[in-house]
Amino acid sequence: MTGLFITFEGIDGSGKSSQARMAYDALCTAGHTCHLTREPGGSTGAEEIRALVLNGATDRWSAMTELLLFTAARRDHIERVIRPAIARGEIVVCDRFVDSTRAYQGLNDTDMRALVDDLHRLTIGIEADLTLLIDIDPAEGLARAKSRGTGEERFEDKGLSFQTALRSAFADIAQKAPARVKQINGAQPMQDVHQSVMAQIQAAMDRMT
Ligand code: TYD
Repeated sequence: MTGLFITFEGIDGSGKSSQARMAYDALCTAGHTCHLTREPGGSTGAEEIRALVLNGATDRWSAMTELLLFTAARRDHIERVIRPAIARGEIVVCDRFVDSTRAYQGLNDTDMRALVDDLHRLTIGIEADLTLLIDIDPAEGLARAKSRGTGEERFEDKGLSFQTALRSAFADIAQKAPARVKQINGAQPMQDVHQSVMAQIQAAMDRMT
């Protein structure tokens, strides 16, 4: 059995974290050995970096420093958690990965967008086998995200126009990588979103065997 690397992406409040957990639970129940993880974070060091990037004022970091912090967190996460799990043949389900960096840190800046890809190639070097992009109306997503009250709201605090631009950035990523990124309508009832997610996971597994 070869490992499988599945990522969930979407704007803030898209429901992707719930969907990642539901997919993980379903895969475990089906008898697979799985690992559920998230970014930024997922390893001890990366969780420490998470606190630095998600708390505080929206202008706490320059755009470049922020990109390097997210990338440093990812490097620790892949070294210590993702690669070893895949090497053991496990299914890794990750809530956000490099598409979030492409969308958030690359937003409205073509130089930064190119740098995200260069840094990724040089320091990370793996793409997901399957990415589920949970698409939702930005106003609805923002309302959901703000109602959580976690305090980790640096990005939610950038407002509706930011979330709207992000949605287009994710759609663009999906359009450029149709074999890897599958877009799912997040406005459906949760169980229906889950069914769509599991259908895509099954199709990816069938392709890989
Ligand atoms: P989180 O609380 O995990 O949000 P969500 O539940 O919506 O996933 O916070 C992650 C935030 O960090 C989210 O606003 C997106 C942002 N982010 C980036 O800007 N770049 C990245 O590379 C990653 C992984 C996340």
